Amino acid sequence: MEVLDYDVVILGSGIAGLTAAIHASRLGKGNLKIAVVSKLHVMRSHSVAAEGGISGVLYPQANQDSKELHAYDTVKGSDYLADQDAVERLVNGAPDEIKFFDHLGVPWNRREKGMIDQRPFGGMSVPRTAFAADKTGFFMMRSLYDELTSHKDIDIFNEHFATNLIRKGNRIYGIVAFDLSNENVKAFRSKSIVIATGGASRIYSFTTNSYSNTGDGTAMAFRAGLPIKDMEFVQFHPTALIPSGILITEAARGEGGYLKNSEGERFMEKYAKSKMELAPRDIVSRAIISEIKAGRGMRDHESGLYYVYLDLRHLDPEKIDEKLPMIKEITIKMINLDPSKSQIPIRPAAHFTMGGIHTNIDGAVMLDASRPMVGTWAAGECACVSVHGSNRLGSNSLSQCSVWGRIAGRSAADFALKSGNAADSGSFFAAAEEEESDIHKIIDARGSTSPYELRDSLYELMEEHMYVYRNIRGMAIARKGISALRNKFKDIYIEDKGKAFNTNLREAFEIHNLLDIAWIVSEGAFRRHESRGAHVVAEYPKRDDARWLKHTIAIKSAAGIKFSYSKVKITKWQPEERKY
Ligand code: FUM
Repeated sequence: MEVLDYDVVILGSGIAGLTAAIHASRLGKGNLKIAVVSKLHVMRSHSVAAEGGISGVLYPQANQDSKELHAYDTVKGSDYLADQDAVERLVNGAPDEIKFFDHLGVPWNRREKGMIDQRPFGGMSVPRTAFAADKTGFFMMRSLYDELTSHKDIDIFNEHFATNLIRKGNRIYGIVAFDLSNENVKAFRSKSIVIATGGASRIYSFTTNSYSNTGDGTAMAFRAGLPIKDMEFVQFHPTALIPSGILITEAARGEGGYLKNSEGERFMEKYAKSKMELAPRDIVSRAIISEIKAGRGMRDHESGLYYVYLDLRHLDPEKIDEKLPMIKEITIKMINLDPSKSQIPIRPAAHFTMGGIHTNIDGAVMLDASRPMVGTWAAGECACVSVHGSNRLGSNSLSQCSVWGRIAGRSAADFALKSGNAADSGSFFAAAEEEESDIHKIIDARGSTSPYELRDSLYELMEEHMYVYRNIRGMAIARKGISALRNKFKDIYIEDKGKAFNTNLREAFEIHNLLDIAWIVSEGAFRRHESRGAHVVAEYPKRDDARWLKHTIAIKSAAGIKFSYSKVKITKWQPEERKY
């Protein structure tokens, strides 16, 4: 096994990971060796699929906006579960991040006089989402990638699948990964590490997420015994295209689109009279499912999925071409539908993981509820800082990825420069060899369960029992089913014995991670006896601040998962009833 030594390892290559790498390199001024390790080619990271935009207060006067208002919207949107000091950090940092990307060359849509255009998004009081048409993530990634390749101190390891973190005591000393092109196992030993592996919405089948969003870093952190926070809160984006689940950006409603049921009614009037289609996502998703349950949805005969309509027919076609060109391209290419002429069939799909690896406000990964690990950071969707609480507002994620990508990258670099020493070779090598032998156990597995079957069974459980509306019986079925699937994983077989880009093998590692994630989600959900944000339970229909205004912390234990709860940080905004 090859052992590679780095000062900083960045695991993951989306917006958070690349931002971290660039800022680590800038701080290191050529004195650090940095590695970006990704299971994909960098430009295939899921961040390229981000569409609608990035939030931040750019023109307080012209937009009648303020950071205070951005923070308030975010806290209210989170159903008061966000840590308010972290939210303040987010809104203070976001404008500079938009400017940073401006300098990197993102082609923002602009108003007269060159001002960056901003559009309305759900739950935001004023238009504050900067955008590059409806391909914002792609343009941000492209600019980051261009910049990254000019940093000679950064080595990029594309298509290297990391399987586990190497932990000793209160420190992560590196990772073990195998090269998908030839199955060679490599150990990356580093002084500091940033985990930025993205979300985990692929525990569901109907999702806006790419096939690769399998929560790898979060699952690895969990297996390394680190605390994972608030995983029961999964965001369902209201408007995913039928039948594929491809994202139809919230910007389509921000630019004036309507939601309509089978009777042609703009039904949001019954659920959020003042915000209508631009209520936060948890509310809009529930409204859509309520309409469908009341018999006012349509059914796609091929997929069996029920849906409602997103209507853009009243928008000026020039506006669609300028601000939503990709939506037009997607609907034409995927379902032969011109959104200027016909209504788009949509329904809510799993979109974002509000929970994640428990970090403090500085992005440092926590050892337990209060003590940070040494030399270890997490950023982006895999991290739970927590700025989104139980429901994220659209466009706050790109700001989160950039704000904490920067913080984590700089902190990891600073640590490596000042005080970092790598693990001693002997103990590192022993731990890496143990992991290598575990990898080979999976490669050589001769059981009777296919990883694809496991993924299909997981999808069924999650779609049926852990979707927008939950109930105790359904969650109990999901828990039992997931536990059975975890047992079946022990009996896995890999049919394809090829060594180059063995997708069968990759599937096995991904389902391993997905099952761990689904386990935490379902167990955490079952234990939270209230409805808050994206977690809504029939038997506990109300938010219960007296008992449940707290974060869920899940830690792997010999007996299963040990749950504990930690306080939500309230700075300025006391919880109140959420009305829109
Ligand atoms: O609808 C969207 O464009 C998604 C944005 C987001 O999740 O922040």
